[in-house]
Amino acid sequence: MSSKNLIKGMGFILRRANPSDVAPHLNYLQDKETKRNFMSVPKTLSEARKELFNKKNDTFVIQVDGEFAGTIGMHDIIPNHKAILSYWLARKFRGQGIMTRATKLFTRYAFKKYKLRRIYGFVRTFNKASCIVLERAGYQLEGRLRKNKLRNGKYMDDFVYAKVR
Ligand SMILES: CC(C)(COP(=O)(O)OP(=O)(O)OC[C@H]1O[C@@H](n2cnc3c(N)ncnc32)[C@H](O)[C@@H]1OP(=O)(O)O)[C@@H](O)C(=O)NCCC(=O)NCCS
Repeated sequence: MSSKNLIKGMGFILRRANPSDVAPHLNYLQDKETKRNFMSVPKTLSEARKELFNKKNDTFVIQVDGEFAGTIGMHDIIPNHKAILSYWLARKFRGQGIMTRATKLFTRYAFKKYKLRRIYGFVRTFNKASCIVLERAGYQLEGRLRKNKLRNGKYMDDFVYAKVR
């Protein structure tokens, strides 16, 4: 979907996925704390492959010191209008400012690439780290969507954050 295949950041690179990313993508996403922030995560290599190489989305792998560390991507892209941001980082790479820097870079890339006017994301209300990332990357809290998700029989609220231009 994109001609740009490499974005260099401080302490990481964003690059396109390759087949060797499928196993770490699957394995890291089985982490309980990571899983509770998403509606679902891939459970098999085939699902992980489909997610990583889904042509409807624009996904980059976050690579740190040569290692697969997580992903950042846009989905539901409507060129000239809006898209939804999603990201995650494996536990051992967290707390170093990587996702804040990646979100800033990737947001700039996506606004330009798709001529977007709005990028938005949904965050569980308990996900403080993600709220901090979005706020530092210039996203604004627009509101609380009450009982927006139903997961394992439980209704959960989401915050919606957006950046417009
Ligand atoms: C959210 C996530 C991507 C953040 O990545 P990260 O690279 O660790 O983020 P950063 O280091 O750029 O910033 C996170 C900030 O939140 C802080 N933080 C982390 N956990 C926190 C908590 N429970 N309460 C308050 N602050 C917290 C960190 O200390 C850091 O702030 P600091 O720079 O002042 O120390 C990562 O935690 C993650 O992948 N979580 C699971 C998946 C997920 O939630 N994805 C997003 C769905 S919306």
